[in-house]
Amino acid sequence: MYHEDQMRTRSLASLFALSTCAASLSMALTGCRSLPPSKPEAMWTMEEARGAQVYHDKCAKCHYPTTTRGLKGPGLQAITKIRAMPSGAPPTDERLTNLILRGRLMMPPTPINDDELRDLLAYLHSL
Ligand code: HEC
Repeated sequence: MYHEDQMRTRSLASLFALSTCAASLSMALTGCRSLPPSKPEAMWTMEEARGAQVYHDKCAKCHYPTTTRGLKGPGLQAITKIRAMPSGAPPTDERLTNLILRGRLMMPPTPINDDELRDLLAYLHSL
C-alpha cells in the first residue's frame, strides 16, 4: 500500500512539472508577454467610442490597436498599461499628448482639437 501511494505522488509530481514546463514554453513563444486584453467594443463609453473614431481616422493606418505587432509604428495594445513605451518613455497622458500633437521621428504630428484629444486618450486607455 505504501509503495502504491508513493508512486501516485511521484506521478502527480511529474505531471505538475510537465504542466509548468508547458506554461513556460508558451510564455517563451509569446515573448513572455501576457498583456491585459483590450476592452471589448460592446463595453466602450461614449468617450471611448468617439476616441475610436478619431483613432480610425488618424492613427489606424500606422498602428494596430489590439496587438503589439507593428505596422508602420508599434502595435498599441495595452499602451497605457505598460511600464514603458517602445521608445522607453512612460505612457503618461502628457507624453502621449505631446507625441500625438508634435509627432516623433517617423511619426508625423496629428493636429486635433482638445475634445478629440480627450476622446482619443480615453480610447487609448481602453486598449
Ligand atoms: C504615418 C504613420 C503614423 C501615424 C499616422 C501615427 N503614428 Fe504613431 N508612430 C509611428 C511610428 C513610425 C512610430 C515610431 C516612432 C519612433 O521611432 O519612436 C510611432 C510611435 C507611436 C507610439 C509609441 C511612442 C513611443 O514613445 O514609443 C505611440 C503611443 C503612437 N505612435 C501613437 C499614435 C497615435 C495615438 C496616433 C494617432 C493620433 C499615431 N500614433 C499616428 C507612425 C505613425
